[in-house]
Amino acid sequence: MVGITETVLRDGHQSLIATRMRTKHMLPALERLDAVGYRTIEAWGGATFDVSLRFLHEDPWERLRTLKRGMPNTPLQMLLRGQNLVGYRHYADDLVEKFVAEAARQGIGVFRVFDALNDPRNMEVALKAVKRTGAVAQGTICYTQSPVHTLEAFVRLGTTLAEMGADELCIKDMAGFLPPTEASQLTKALITNVGLPVVLHTHSSSGMSTLSCLAAADAGATAVDSALSPFAGGTSQPPTETLVGAMRGTPTDPKLDLGALADLAEYFQTVLEHYRPMLNLRSLQTDPGILVHQVPGGMLSNLLSQLQEQDQLARLPEVLQEIPRVRADLGYPPLVTPTSQIVGIQAVVNVLVGERYKQITREVRDYVRGLYGHPPGPLDPELTKKVLAEAKAISGRPADLLEPEFAKAVAEVRALVPSADTAEALSYAIFPLVYKAYRTAKDDGLTPDVLNAVAVGVVGALRTAKPVVALPAVARPAAAGVSPWAHEGRARLQAGRRMVDAARRRDRR
Ligand code: CO
Repeated sequence: MVGITETVLRDGHQSLIATRMRTKHMLPALERLDAVGYRTIEAWGGATFDVSLRFLHEDPWERLRTLKRGMPNTPLQMLLRGQNLVGYRHYADDLVEKFVAEAARQGIGVFRVFDALNDPRNMEVALKAVKRTGAVAQGTICYTQSPVHTLEAFVRLGTTLAEMGADELCIKDMAGFLPPTEASQLTKALITNVGLPVVLHTHSSSGMSTLSCLAAADAGATAVDSALSPFAGGTSQPPTETLVGAMRGTPTDPKLDLGALADLAEYFQTVLEHYRPMLNLRSLQTDPGILVHQVPGGMLSNLLSQLQEQDQLARLPEVLQEIPRVRADLGYPPLVTPTSQIVGIQAVVNVLVGERYKQITREVRDYVRGLYGHPPGPLDPELTKKVLAEAKAISGRPADLLEPEFAKAVAEVRALVPSADTAEALSYAIFPLVYKAYRTAKDDGLTPDVLNAVAVGVVGALRTAKPVVALPAVARPAAAGVSPWAHEGRARLQAGRRMVDAARRRDRR
């Protein structure tokens, strides 16, 4: 029997409607979700924390308490970005420890901890903090393809995570291009060599996710992630009902009631109607382009914006050739935020300047100095020499450079909100400006309902606007701090892939 992790309350809506599902739309389903018999329900973390505060003007902690009250029997799972928590920079260890302890106290039972570079040092403090709470620590392997990302390397990482206290391992295929055979091999290799339960998280982007989940299940995976059908497919997970139906009567049968799932799907279909203006058809379409050019998750769309702004769209084919070279120079980082931006922007600079690394971005300098963590493979010696001539590399972990920050955050937030508790202090510590804006809006009576009405109206208006009006939004580069999985980004990405394919076809002719 394989367990199912239901993602409709987190990754499902993060992938398809930019994480905008409100708590009030989750509430009517909680009792039924809790009764299904899911292994876990992923309901918190990732972008939900940021989006709740920033756009929905909801307190993420209040949501967590509400969800746990409504689903007392099923373990709630969250996605934690290692030392980055639910934010976009490295936070000090004391903050990581406080955050994990508070999340566990308020209802998280399983923490999926990952790092964009697969650097275990960026996961260790979080994993150990999870262990202290008694919750389940899931150490994560971000899947990517490169000469240094071999089966042996993934097993080595799994072993290290086990030594750090991970209770189970997650294979995280964020780009959605893990082939079924590799899913099977990797699952088997991890089970055999590390000895921990293995779970698989995929995205349906290239259309292979259902196949890969079945292959992993057959290979002995303990659980796979899926989303109820209204929030499944495309840039989201494979549909729960499809997987359950496909495995029915086999040794991997998750033994979940398809009738109960159908009933829940019907409910979430009505929820989806509320967010219809946000749902882009393209994010639901299968896009196997990534199997060819391997440029994933919002990255291409950012490139297109940058080139468009410089009036250099014609250089795109050169940039696409430069990306794998820059990635190799940097030791083959998996292309997710922030590494996708770091690689992408340097590739654009190299092409537009006309000489490789004549200009080196601040981010590449920091990366080479070790400020993001250990690169997966060796760095290009020339580039390293050039960068380190100006500033030294750090020897330890990036977070070793940080002073404790929790006490300071408490003092600051209490000057703002005298009654602030630990959870609110953590929100402030992670997103000070967003939290301030959230409090101000709340004090001004801007309730979620009012804001929702405004947002739906604005999106609706944009939808019906002439293309010339919508263009500035398309050309806007992704601001720092915006989720890499933002819906708009993905939509632009897919538009971009079609342009690339068209350009390639033109080249061939
Ligand atoms: Co995901």
